Amino acid sequence: MKVLIVDDEPNVRSSLKGVLEDEGFSVLTASNGEESLEIIRKDKPDIVLLDVLMPGIDGIETLRRIKNYDSSIIVLMISGHGTIDMAVKAMELGAMDFIEKPLSADRIIIRINQAIEKNKLRTENILLKKEIDEKYQIIGESQVMKDLIAKIMSVAPTNSRVLIFGENGTGKELVARAIHRNSKRSDRPFIQVNCAAIPDDLIESELFGHERGSFTGAITRSIGKFEQANNATLFLDEIGDMSIRTQSKVLKAIEEGEFTRIGGKEPIKVDVRIISATNKDLQQEVEQGRFREDLYYRLNVIPIYVPPLRERIEDIPLLVSYFLSKFSAENGVKEKRISQSAMKLLQSYHWPGNVRELKNLIERLVIMVSSDSIEVGDLPNNLFEQPKTTKLSAVELRKAKNDFEREYILQTLISCDWNITETAKKLGIERTNLHRKMKQYGISRKKDEQSKYEPKI
Ligand SMILES: Nc1ncnc2c1ncn2[C@@H]1O[C@H](COP(=O)(O)OP(=O)(O)OP(=O)(O)O)[C@@H](O)[C@H]1O
Ligand SMILES: [Mg+2]
Repeated sequence: MKVLIVDDEPNVRSSLKGVLEDEGFSVLTASNGEESLEIIRKDKPDIVLLDVLMPGIDGIETLRRIKNYDSSIIVLMISGHGTIDMAVKAMELGAMDFIEKPLSADRIIIRINQAIEKNKLRTENILLKKEIDEKYQIIGESQVMKDLIAKIMSVAPTNSRVLIFGENGTGKELVARAIHRNSKRSDRPFIQVNCAAIPDDLIESELFGHERGSFTGAITRSIGKFEQANNATLFLDEIGDMSIRTQSKVLKAIEEGEFTRIGGKEPIKVDVRIISATNKDLQQEVEQGRFREDLYYRLNVIPIYVPPLRERIEDIPLLVSYFLSKFSAENGVKEKRISQSAMKLLQSYHWPGNVRELKNLIERLVIMVSSDSIEVGDLPNNLFEQPKTTKLSAVELRKAKNDFEREYILQTLISCDWNITETAKKLGIERTNLHRKMKQYGISRKKDEQSKYEPKI
């Protein structure tokens, strides 16, 4: 590792140089800020030891310029008579440490090694975070997805509870994670509980924790999800599957902002942001007495609806191309193309399993198809079937009509390769009328044709 010592006192420079060279560092020196910047550009040190008080530009200003030039350089400030204010300022500007003079050899070595270790962790964290962000990226450019993303961005920084609803595999968990990631709690954990997967007699302990010996099998104290999510986000997934009994406990915890561990006496205060998700019609569950109305209103401060894939078929090419490159990279195979007619078929299928179903299909195709291009013949038989019944839900007639009209127009456009005249003829309407309707429903060719996905959030 290369260390640059910046100090106006020759004695400090030479003694530090000796100490660091003995430790195996290669050492450069500079006697002022300007000189140090030149050396940084030329020799690219990994670490800079920077004196605060120097003639010319001072240490703080030098630090600012170094970080501007390359934020990955580790900078440790050294100062004879540093004030707290100055130390705070230096840390804000990205210094890793602030060391007071006089410098003993041991101390300086320890602090440098600590800084290297801290920097390593920080870099790893950034990489890990990036990986997670990519893993949970929301792909979609259709108007409904743009609206959804705008809504996520506007509710994320608030502390409001959010209820996410939509069919299986539409991306509800992705939405929950995106809210957390864009919230003020993003550097705290995202704690997840799948209410459907945990047996009812265990869920209470899972949520609220228990004291040692509070029941048979409680060998040690356990910290529940509510406590783990303090100052963070708690994601209650499949909330519609929670028993009435557990619902009451959750409601109480929300209303009082505190709870007790099972077998515990002390109430524990927490500040938890709750995001919940369900594929059930919770309003109907309430009407039928399976879900507590008061809890429903507590959780549903901001409702977010994730539309099924069949209502945003413009996103299918984007999703397909995203999954194709993702799975090709993961499996170390050359990225395949997909034929136009195969893509058309994907866009006419009703996708009961939504994005998850599409994702699984593409993964299978990447592995199974041996040629460079995916053709209609490679697609499974169920894609050719029409849905037996369309699921009817209680939406307003106008919305139902609009949804149908939009989908019908889009399907026809795709089948006519976006030829407006032909589409209008097929639909039996005027071209101008078709243009007007496309505008009204936010249908445009650009999105459909886009093969490269833009990372959204
Ligand atoms: N818009 C999207 N962009 C990229 N990937 C997506 C998108 N929507 C869903 N996925 C992927 O599809 C799968 C299902 O998403 P997710 O688990 O968020 O859905 P869900 O609505 O929570 O499903 P379920 O109701 O079954 O719990 C995940 O692997 C997710 O990464
Ligand atoms: Mg889910």
